[in-house]
Amino acid sequence: MDLRPPAPLLAPSLLSADFARLGEELRTIEAAGAQVVHVDVMDGRFVPNITIGLPVVESLRKATALPLDCHLMIVEPLRYAADFVKAGANWVSVHQEADPHLHRTLAAIRQAGGKAGVVLNPGTPVETLVDLVGDFDFVLLMSVNPGFGGQSFIPRVLDKVRRLDALRSERGVPFFIQVDGGVGSKNAADLIRAGADCLVAGNAVFKAEDPKAAVASLLSEMRSGRTA
Ligand code: DX5
Ligand code: ZN
Repeated sequence: MDLRPPAPLLAPSLLSADFARLGEELRTIEAAGAQVVHVDVMDGRFVPNITIGLPVVESLRKATALPLDCHLMIVEPLRYAADFVKAGANWVSVHQEADPHLHRTLAAIRQAGGKAGVVLNPGTPVETLVDLVGDFDFVLLMSVNPGFGGQSFIPRVLDKVRRLDALRSERGVPFFIQVDGGVGSKNAADLIRAGADCLVAGNAVFKAEDPKAAVASLLSEMRSGRTA
């Protein structure tokens, strides 16, 4: 059984987009071949920044057919996780550091019909997931400290990707590995080669001179990581 998705996926992060032109930004990345839309939800408590919530997700749902991937950087994620699925999210991920009852929260996301993900901050080891394998559909490894776009990539995440990939093979359970923060053309192929399946990119897409070309070139870098 293949434990990884057939092709690597790019999930541009709307955090770096122009919030007054979200519909247009969605059309640009969709036309360029991005397969997923990453939506960063921050509450000003788990992270020091406040972004967007359920009403925006409802509007995004009407504006694109791409899967919406909601990364919840909020305290007490169980209170809202299923509501994000109801608002139109296809994937919902919650931080391990924000939730003492992850098993329950992941089950609530799945029960609402979403794909359930666990997010690990740079300092949280992948080994803490050993007893949850099978209860999540994906793991998001942060390669920056969450809260802001445009930060520098923390290279130690590459080792975490390899260790998580090894855990996946050892258990024989399919889940996908996502990486978020400081991703760009310099590290995309290496991350895929290490075992990542889905890369989030904010500034590398929306702050590029030509976002469409940026998506195309990231996707081609990523594919080279799967063939090399
Ligand atoms: C950071 C967010 C990221 C962010 C990535 O807390 O989770 O999704 O938007 O932005 P870049 O790719 O610019 O680091
Ligand atoms: Zn994110």
